[in-house]
Amino acid sequence: MIDQQEWQEQDSDDFIELGEYFVPERQVQMDVVTSVIAEPREPAEILDLCCGQGRLSGALLKAFPAATVVGLDLSAAMLDTARRDLADHGARFRTEQFDLAERGWRTRAEAPAAVVSSLAVHHLDADGKRALYRDVHTMLRPGGALVIVDLVQPVGARGVELARRMWDESVREQGIAGTGGLKPYERFHELEWSCYQYADELDKPSPVLDQLNWLTEAGFTEVDLYWMKAGHAVFGGVKAGE
Ligand SMILES: C[S@@+](CC[C@H](N)C(=O)[O-])C[C@H]1O[C@@H](n2cnc3c(N)ncnc32)[C@H](O)[C@@H]1O
Repeated sequence: MIDQQEWQEQDSDDFIELGEYFVPERQVQMDVVTSVIAEPREPAEILDLCCGQGRLSGALLKAFPAATVVGLDLSAAMLDTARRDLADHGARFRTEQFDLAERGWRTRAEAPAAVVSSLAVHHLDADGKRALYRDVHTMLRPGGALVIVDLVQPVGARGVELARRMWDESVREQGIAGTGGLKPYERFHELEWSCYQYADELDKPSPVLDQLNWLTEAGFTEVDLYWMKAGHAVFGGVKAGE
């Protein structure tokens, strides 16, 4: 059993290589995120927390031509890949190295029009998520949205088993469709990637209902679950006032 407490650069390399097979319906997830954010009509900043190699940042840059996207991540390998892959967007994309759990980055010179994060907030525990949602609410400009794509914790054993099975089937199908073989699926198990099958200290998903309540408690309105499949959810809310 792999017992891991922190994200490592080897995880970044594995995710860069295999993420397209490991994430269920990644394109759909990104489409949901860009669909629920109001398009900025004037120059505005969007933060992509734990941007990885910048797939979601790229979708935001394409969907919102007036926006600048700031991709933040801990991993130098991820930030290098994001800068390289999004170089065509010039100054509309820039990066910052950060630790999601720390609070210094949460005071910004410019209030963002939106904050998004994909597949990373589950590295924070429950108190960490609550504090993040409060701080992002304070940071956003009025009318701004927080949209989270993440693993969420089913509350019962049947829900956990369903999430495990559906994620497993998705990786198998996407891997075969993309490569013609079972290599991505085999790596998914060798790496013990599924938190619903191989629990570890690194992954701390919280129930979706708790997270919707924490968003409401933080002051967000229009708090909603937009999409869900195989333990992966897209949810968020809007800061009132515009
Ligand atoms: C599963 S990847 C997701 C990447 C990207 N958001 C996506 O959806 O393709 C998780 C990302 O979170 C980053 N990460 C993990 N722990 C972090 C932390 N404490 N602070 C900042 N980034 C972190 C990793 O470097 C990695 O890029």
